[in-house]
Amino acid sequence: MRYAYYTLAFVVVLLLSVMGFRGMTSTRPPIEVFPDMDHQAKYKPQAHSEFFADGRADRPLPAGVIPRGRSAGEPDAAFLRADDFRYQGKNADGSFARGFPADLVISREFIERGQSRYTIYCAPCHGALGDGNGITKSYGMLVTPTYHDERLRAMAEGEIFNTITHGKNTMFSYADKIAPDDRWAVIAYVRALQRAHNAKIDDVPLDQRQGLK
Ligand code: HEC
Repeated sequence: MRYAYYTLAFVVVLLLSVMGFRGMTSTRPPIEVFPDMDHQAKYKPQAHSEFFADGRADRPLPAGVIPRGRSAGEPDAAFLRADDFRYQGKNADGSFARGFPADLVISREFIERGQSRYTIYCAPCHGALGDGNGITKSYGMLVTPTYHDERLRAMAEGEIFNTITHGKNTMFSYADKIAPDDRWAVIAYVRALQRAHNAKIDDVPLDQRQGLK
């Protein structure tokens, strides 16, 4: 019987400590078992400071500071990524742009950069040849399209840029993995794959045709 009282008392204390003070407010600071980094010697934005003569915690910019995205020679030039073509694949009217941004040089190196990015990020689904037969197909991803149909061959470069940036249906976005200029490199490589897939004998230099026929 004695144990029953002990147990009852224990349960009452337990209930009170867990639920008894719910909803009660206190003006005292909470007990902090682990204060983590809640209290730091730092200024909040636009706060007052005793340290600086003008009393402001925010300091004025030193002379000659240039906002990120502008260069010293042209402090009034547009901010970084103001170029819709290069960073969104779009024309001023919002339609998908064709071709490549004028600032990018489509060199062999550029296309090889695209090939390396393509092999890492796209080939698992779209296949090394761009025919949609990547390794994921054997694991059940059957919907990956080939690049070699009319629609994708005719698709504006800007729309492919948009697909890499934002993804499409089951294909997710690669914006966090492939930098904008690298996306253009990937597109150049996709174009190379498409061109290679539809090559004619006339595309092969004369002296190399012999072995092909
Ligand atoms: C996880 C698999 C996967 C990866 C990786 C992947 N894709 Fe896709 N991609 C798809 C699928 C699935 C579709 C079809 C989406 C749809 O239209 O439903 C697609 C569609 C496309 C299309 C056609 C979009 C359209 O409008 O029809 C393009 C272009 C494309 N991908 C390019 C790329 C490029 C470039 C990469 C690499 C940066 C890439 N994909 C990486 C699965 C993938």
